[in-house]
Amino acid sequence: MHQSYNKLREMGNTIKIFIGLVLTGLMMFSSCNTKDVKTGSTELDQRVEDLLSQMTLEEKIGQMSQVNGGGPVVSEEMKEELRKGKIGSILNEVNVENINEIQRVCVEESRLGIPVIIARDVIHGFKTVFPIPLGQAASWNPELIQEGSRISAAEASSSGIRWTFAPMIDISRDARWGRIAESLGEDPYLSAQLGAAMVKGFQGEDLSNETSILACAKHFAGYGAAEGGRDYNTTLIPPRELRDIYLPPFKAAVDAGVRTFMAGFNDIDGIPATANEFLFRQVLREEWKFDGFVVSDWASPWELMNHGIAADEKEAAQRAINAGVNMEMATTTYKDNIEALLKEGLVSEETINQAVREILRVKFELGLFENPYLAPEKQYQFAKAEYLASAKEAATQSMVLLKNEQQLLPISKSQKVALIGPMADQPYEQLGTWIFDGDSTLSVTPLDGLKQALGNKMGFAKGLAISRTRHHKGFKEAVRLAKRSDVIVFCAGEESILSGEAHSRANIDLPGAQNELIKELKKTGKPLVLVVMAGRPLTIGEIGEYADAIVYAWHPGTMGGAALADILLGKANPSGKLPVTFPKVVGQIPMHYNHKNTGRPANPNSWTQMYDIPVKAPQTSLGNESHYIDAGYTPLYPFGYGLSYTQYEYSNVVLNNSVYAIDDTLKVSFTLKNTGKYDGTEIAQMYVRDLVGNVSRPVKELKGFARVSLKAGEQKEITLELPIANLSFHNEKMEEVVEPGDFNLWVGGDSNAELMTSFTVTK
Ligand code: NOJ
Repeated sequence: MHQSYNKLREMGNTIKIFIGLVLTGLMMFSSCNTKDVKTGSTELDQRVEDLLSQMTLEEKIGQMSQVNGGGPVVSEEMKEELRKGKIGSILNEVNVENINEIQRVCVEESRLGIPVIIARDVIHGFKTVFPIPLGQAASWNPELIQEGSRISAAEASSSGIRWTFAPMIDISRDARWGRIAESLGEDPYLSAQLGAAMVKGFQGEDLSNETSILACAKHFAGYGAAEGGRDYNTTLIPPRELRDIYLPPFKAAVDAGVRTFMAGFNDIDGIPATANEFLFRQVLREEWKFDGFVVSDWASPWELMNHGIAADEKEAAQRAINAGVNMEMATTTYKDNIEALLKEGLVSEETINQAVREILRVKFELGLFENPYLAPEKQYQFAKAEYLASAKEAATQSMVLLKNEQQLLPISKSQKVALIGPMADQPYEQLGTWIFDGDSTLSVTPLDGLKQALGNKMGFAKGLAISRTRHHKGFKEAVRLAKRSDVIVFCAGEESILSGEAHSRANIDLPGAQNELIKELKKTGKPLVLVVMAGRPLTIGEIGEYADAIVYAWHPGTMGGAALADILLGKANPSGKLPVTFPKVVGQIPMHYNHKNTGRPANPNSWTQMYDIPVKAPQTSLGNESHYIDAGYTPLYPFGYGLSYTQYEYSNVVLNNSVYAIDDTLKVSFTLKNTGKYDGTEIAQMYVRDLVGNVSRPVKELKGFARVSLKAGEQKEITLELPIANLSFHNEKMEEVVEPGDFNLWVGGDSNAELMTSFTVTK
């Protein structure tokens, strides 16, 4: 333990250092968070201060630098930098032998023996891959999501990784944006609940446990508002919308104990996130009291020059450091310029000390000083049976049944199934974006899953080699198979590379010749189940007409095919609900359920489809309301939507009161009945509308939900709670307020919920 401390002693350093180290060593045996009554500082604070006081400027700058690792062995060049204390963190190193060697060099051969933090993007699984985050969000199941993140942490940490760059909690209202796949959807409340669950899962109960990894709330802030859905694009987010829509999931992450944040690539109204003092100093630290640390995104300080707000690297570093970004990822503007910036007084010594202090604190919390190495018996713990079972459950709960005409699903085992489509047997593609370490040899594809369940009661023809295939060579074989079968299951979608970072699409129809093949297959007259495996909502409105049933499976991860087989064959009853609105056509985007009413809201009675408008109709004869004359005003599927093999009925909505004070908690009760023939789980949702505000308010806001399991025919009384304080928003003066007034409240199975009651909030 702490061999570097012994080494220092041998080297005959000053008595001051020696005493400091002995004290630090002693403190390690007692709780780090006990406060000194007189000074108010904790033992952890003292350990941090003690170490900080011994550091040279070069060593401090080192802590603020994160470098890229990887490669078969640790290079001599990197070892030399580690010896000099010039590296604070390494990303993308996943080999435990290398990681142990890196830590050994830090601990034994550097002056102060400070270990590095090994970081990696573990976004929705490590070797065992869970559904893409957007898919996981469709489960509306915080416990299950927490369990998945815990498993990801266990697998990743068994590779020596102690920091993931997740959860990504950027509100995403634009399906063109490739990174919507990584998000938890469009809603602040749902994203907050699920993001917090991820934080708890990654970090575990005790950060110093070697299976815990640091979570990182990213990308602070507003990255998901990229104009036109084009990745990295500029954003224009009005301050009120920033506070009420984009920031709540980040606040929830802080409340859940997240220890790191990442700065976004985007600018907001001209201020790049990486140079945004308002976000990192005022909101994150002053208002939210966050005392972890902030890492930049890859090269984002350097990119301040591309944004045109820094003339050179020195100015770029100055702006990012002063904004409160502690650590620079990948580029070296900090390393190369801090000394000069200090000399010229452009960055203060206290700013540097504080940046380093926050990093050291987290390193202590991680237990890295006590346990820098990973023992051989704890290494490479992957794909255990319970991990795969959890991934299967997550995939099952993420799948959303969008359509089921004449109860086509579930398919009876006596029916002969024709499995067709470019995503039906793609072990790699079904894993989705951001799976650096995902092991596609573990994948159970839809073909594997259905074969296992049906044996020779099914046939398979790809029809199209991959999702982008445009030629029709495989059509004949696919049609022949369909004709010999009772039901067609068509696995459509997009390959994983078509979503994710830098992979935005302007047209979000099914790519390649998939639509044509579906139309050909439909001509056989056989019922058709459309399964969509994709990283975003695709515009399947028109092609969906050719399908009798639709299952939205997202990119479902390792166990996707096994989960899908259970759903299609009725072993599992779908319960997923959309975490994002599905537009009919791309031109409707951005489209989200919690929109404003406008002065001229759409009116179902006056909306006329473009082709039905009489020739030479007078200008105002069709009314003047907010809609598209070709696409209307409703989405293809609303937020919160998802069917089941059974049906649910909501009734008897009752409030525990009709008038509430601001510190009250509202309780809404209602009866939820399973009126169908299958057991199932319904995600019951509560929405609220503030009827008159000082500023215009959304037409509906999700404020609570519950997963309710009901046997066929069973009914339950459900109660959801709403602390009235949760009705707050930012008024004209940007004060966070709950305004007295009247509210409507709905309960139901999606954001079109109709069962309504009302209440009043008083002063
Ligand atoms: C860039 C991405 O924006 C970020 O989300 C990711 O964590 C880093 N690269 C590291 O790979």
